[in-house]
Amino acid sequence: MIVEMKDVCKDFTMGKSVVHILKNVNLRVNEGEYLAVMGPSGSGKSTLMNLLGFLDVPTSGDYIFDGNDMKNSSDNKLADVRNKDIGFIFQSFHLMPKLTALDNTALPLMYGGIPKQKRREMAAEALKKVGLEDRLDHRPDQLSGGQCQRVAIARAIVGEPKLLLADEPTGALDSESGKVVLEIFRKLHDAGSTIIMITHDLEVAKHAGKIMYIRDGVLTGGDTRE
Ligand SMILES: Nc1ncnc2c1ncn2[C@@H]1O[C@H](COP(=O)(O)OP(=O)(O)OP(=O)(O)O)[C@@H](O)[C@H]1O
Ligand SMILES: [Mg+2]
Repeated sequence: MIVEMKDVCKDFTMGKSVVHILKNVNLRVNEGEYLAVMGPSGSGKSTLMNLLGFLDVPTSGDYIFDGNDMKNSSDNKLADVRNKDIGFIFQSFHLMPKLTALDNTALPLMYGGIPKQKRREMAAEALKKVGLEDRLDHRPDQLSGGQCQRVAIARAIVGEPKLLLADEPTGALDSESGKVVLEIFRKLHDAGSTIIMITHDLEVAKHAGKIMYIRDGVLTGGDTRE
């Protein structure tokens, strides 16, 4: 089991009032699983993603990641797990505009103490997996949107994370580029990657092995306790 959330709640304080954004979320994701989470705008999808990727912490409940209860983990520990074990893919790519595809892809390896030459080799290998071996020296402004997203995928997988988190990965792409991205996800899944993908689009969600739904902070479907 890679992900096990038990009765996870997330509240935000807005002025004097507390808003309950995630309500008793129960989620279990096995190694190698490909899960899609669907839900309307404002339902809590990105909030859930932030918790899954240790960008934020639950207000209450437990998050057991790869067998480790992460409650009471220090910020350093959470940052370590985030850097090493999580690969993020966002709708808007989040690439560094001045860096080449190769350097963008190699960036997460900076924290791992890997020598520069090795980092470059690993980045080139990851870019090859997304079909961009002929674009290593291009900067984001010299790439199409679909190619930028493929660089972002290469960056997400370069460190061989235990969990890939994708928040609307095809949301900013035309349908052809979206198909290419989904095909890459399928290959990663076939090769054993664990993927959680957020999407509005049922046709996109159908690529996953399992679909769950979030509405007003309540997660249903899949194998959650209901
Ligand atoms: N830091 C925050 N402080 C206060 N409220 C927040 C914060 N982050 C998110 N929210 C609120 O939580 C709710 C869920 O936000 P979230 O970003 O998770 O939605 P979403 O499902 O990802 O929506 P979209 O499909 O539009 O991306 C929203 O009502 C939002 O205003
Ligand atoms: Mg969102």
